[in-house]
Amino acid sequence: MRLGGHTAALGMLLGVLAFPSVCQAGGTVEVLHWWTSGGEAKAIATLKSAFEAQGGKWIDSPVAGGGGDAAMTALRARVVAGNPPSAVQLKGPNIQEWARQGVLTDIDAVARAEKWDELLPPVLASIMKFHGKYVAAPVNIHRVNWIWANPAVLAKAGVLPPTTWDEFNAAADKLKAAGITPLAHGGQPWQDATLFETVVLGLGGADFYRKALVELDEKAITSSTMIKVFDQMRKLRSYVSPDFSGRDWNLATATIMNGQAGFQLMGDWAKGEFVAAGKVAGQDFLCIPAPGLPGFILNSDSIAMFKVNGVDKLEGQKVLASLIMSEGFQETFSLNKGSIPARLGVPRDKFDSCARKSMDDLAADTNANTLVPSMAHEMAVSRSVRGEILDVVTNHFNSDMSSQDAVKRLVEAIRRARS
Ligand code: BGC
Repeated sequence: MRLGGHTAALGMLLGVLAFPSVCQAGGTVEVLHWWTSGGEAKAIATLKSAFEAQGGKWIDSPVAGGGGDAAMTALRARVVAGNPPSAVQLKGPNIQEWARQGVLTDIDAVARAEKWDELLPPVLASIMKFHGKYVAAPVNIHRVNWIWANPAVLAKAGVLPPTTWDEFNAAADKLKAAGITPLAHGGQPWQDATLFETVVLGLGGADFYRKALVELDEKAITSSTMIKVFDQMRKLRSYVSPDFSGRDWNLATATIMNGQAGFQLMGDWAKGEFVAAGKVAGQDFLCIPAPGLPGFILNSDSIAMFKVNGVDKLEGQKVLASLIMSEGFQETFSLNKGSIPARLGVPRDKFDSCARKSMDDLAADTNANTLVPSMAHEMAVSRSVRGEILDVVTNHFNSDMSSQDAVKRLVEAIRRARS
């Protein structure tokens, strides 16, 4: 980390002087999060140790379960019981939903002093604010629409990285014929939804994606393009291994590493697993932009601050907020997590080819207006709408429902969630 020993030592000293008896020097934070896989745990450990290096006390509250659905249930129970954690992994419209309920606290004094408005892309800054004040701090930017592959496995099956969905299907058929599972997948609703939105972008393009999954436009949802999306989902279902149901995403990633499977369609937190296992980008694994029309599905993790009492906890929130936005943390966290920094201007020299591609594509897709927010990862719609979409996508994936029926149900489900 770039936090100098001097700064940390001084921080500890000042903290001790300011709160002689009741307070931990850098305050106390309880952080509720779902970063529990190998790569994720390494990434969050960098925040914990940096916080502790400033004299703070870190109370870890991990809730296992990729995509965060279990963590959000745990959070609701804590808030209802009147005992929220001080800091929570939260994102997108969820931040606004909790803020509207009056349970978030603002960290605007820190943000103003450190000029966060100048350090963040406007699209992220606005997500972090409620009524113009920062209530959350972004830790990174993940790209959702990637394929992860093992180059040795592709070579064995004589398969090239696909650039269209037809090429993907042809490559998957070849892998299957070679006795390799074409698609590494875990059958959990958020993972099915990750496939779904990647296919929506690839077959429909960014404008269609926005109409269907952000604006929830019924014409887009009932279009022939959406039928084709479900047709492709049915194809994908035929490419997974028999034991896919309920499997965690990182176990699916492990089947890419050990040569059992050909492709995984997953966000770049998958890279965190390869890196944690000592694998090298471009050599041991490939990151291939997902097939079809161009675009970047954006997912940004952030930490929101909940209303808590006591000088010690308030101090902890301030120290944590400042730490999260520091250049050193943003770099170290993303190097471990597979993401890229949320903060602008962090040097790219330590990042691998996948991260650099992500940085370049983020800039290019922002300019081309093909940057879209992830529905599956809670950047696009409310939790209730997302829940309804996930139900339909999962039910279709796990049954013989026709694409036409799936589209019908999708419209009804979205109407229900919005009424
Ligand atoms: C989060 C990532 C996390 C992934 C799997 C996503 O929703 O944004 O940080 O690694 O879920 O748990």
